[in-house]
Amino acid sequence: MSKKGIFYGSSSGNTQNVAGLIAAGLGIAESDVFDVATATSEKLLGYDVLLLGSSTLGYGDLQDDWETFIGKLEKTDLSGKKVAVFGTGDSSAYSDTFCDSIGLIAEAAEKAGATLVGAGIDASGYSFDDSKALKDGAFCGLPIDEDNEPAKTRERVEGWIERLKAEID
Ligand SMILES: Cc1cc2nc3c(=O)[nH]c(=O)nc-3n(C[C@H](O)[C@H](O)[C@H](O)COP(=O)(O)O)c2cc1C
Repeated sequence: MSKKGIFYGSSSGNTQNVAGLIAAGLGIAESDVFDVATATSEKLLGYDVLLLGSSTLGYGDLQDDWETFIGKLEKTDLSGKKVAVFGTGDSSAYSDTFCDSIGLIAEAAEKAGATLVGAGIDASGYSFDDSKALKDGAFCGLPIDEDNEPAKTRERVEGWIERLKAEID
């Protein structure tokens, strides 16, 4: 059984809540869930599977605490690890930069040597104009829109977890 850790950044609690849903779905203990505002990069090394979550703020920017943590992640050797990315965004007010953070984090994790899992999410279930999370027409992680589609969150998380389980053990 692989050791799984969740690292999230959240400014108003939405991504934190999604992290909690994912932890419950995958049976990840609270002690393996970290807020990147206080987490150290050494903690990343203790896991085989890293679930990385961020909201998108500014205009297509990482959540504030991720702005600092991403530099630490990039300097960490993640080879041999699997990384899955999730994020929150607002597909209506920020339709051109919807959940960009997912793409930014996925790119950084792959550069650090990790293998991306939980990708290839069908974008047709979302209404938006553009996103850095799009790779070959599909999302490279799980986008959640708590601002406009909170009723879809649980189903989206559960569907993603089912896919993920096939890629991680
Ligand atoms: C100032 C501001 C800028 C935002 N910019 C974006 C954006 O560029 N793209 C996007 O998808 N969502 C954007 N959002 C929406 C947030 O990502 C969304 O509300 C998210 O759920 C917040 O999650 P958090 O509480 O975990 O930080 C923005 C929200 C605020 C307040």
